[in-house]
Amino acid sequence: MFLKRITLQHENIPSYHEYPFSIPSIKSFDRLDLNWNVTFFVGENGSGKSTLLEAIADKCEFNTAGGNRNNSYAVHAALSDYVTLSWMPKVTNGFFLRAESFYHFATHVDDTDMNGYKYYGGRSLHEQSHGESHLSLFLNRFKGKAIYLLDEPEAALSPQRQLAFLRIIHDLTVDGDCQFIIATLSPILLGYPDATNWCFDDGRIEELEYEMTDHYIITRYFLENRERFLKDILED
Ligand SMILES: Nc1ncnc2c1ncn2[C@@H]1O[C@H](COP(=O)(O)OP(=O)(O)O)[C@@H](O)[C@H]1O
Ligand SMILES: [Mg+2]
Repeated sequence: MFLKRITLQHENIPSYHEYPFSIPSIKSFDRLDLNWNVTFFVGENGSGKSTLLEAIADKCEFNTAGGNRNNSYAVHAALSDYVTLSWMPKVTNGFFLRAESFYHFATHVDDTDMNGYKYYGGRSLHEQSHGESHLSLFLNRFKGKAIYLLDEPEAALSPQRQLAFLRIIHDLTVDGDCQFIIATLSPILLGYPDATNWCFDDGRIEELEYEMTDHYIITRYFLENRERFLKDILED
């Protein structure tokens, strides 16, 4: 593990009325201690997961549009001037992946780094399907002594490939030396066992057991009671 703690510098915050400090979960947290190689950020849409992940990426000096230190199309994250990262030890190797910027990242690899294909399964990422290209990035590019920040990586992955991705996380964290922080809405990815789930709902960031997350509860309820559930939401 490398990144041990994220602290918010409340003393430097000018106002809690404007983004990003107006977000209830962000406003209220003081520090997060990371105790596992895998940390999930979970919670409703708009609860602040990406805002915090982008700030961490910015502090890691990964560019905030997605990519790593060598992929330079940076955006300054609103929160990054106000967070402190505590490392033990510090790593500079890693990657930030935003689901919506993956296309631009693939273009960037095509444009600038012909040799880069060796990292991505030997083929342009554009010539692979969305899911294939994600898995080939995960399989070929992710290596030890690094921190990987992933925003909704499940967006491109079938359930089968999400399971394959769990195996990749396992291999890289158990045998290897990688740390992951993953913002996700996927009840499959969240099922990874040796992880902390930080939930951004209810105006705070708190640790939640897998079975207590809405993602698990609602998905399970839906699958077990589909007809009743649909009747409830589709009929008056
Ligand atoms: N650049 C921005 N300026 C103002 N508000 C923003 C900006 N980016 C996100 N927000 C708002 O901040 C809140 C949290 O967004 P975000 O961190 O993207 O949530 P999540 O990733 O949990 O869905 C949302 O209400 C969103 O509309
Ligand atoms: Mg988000």
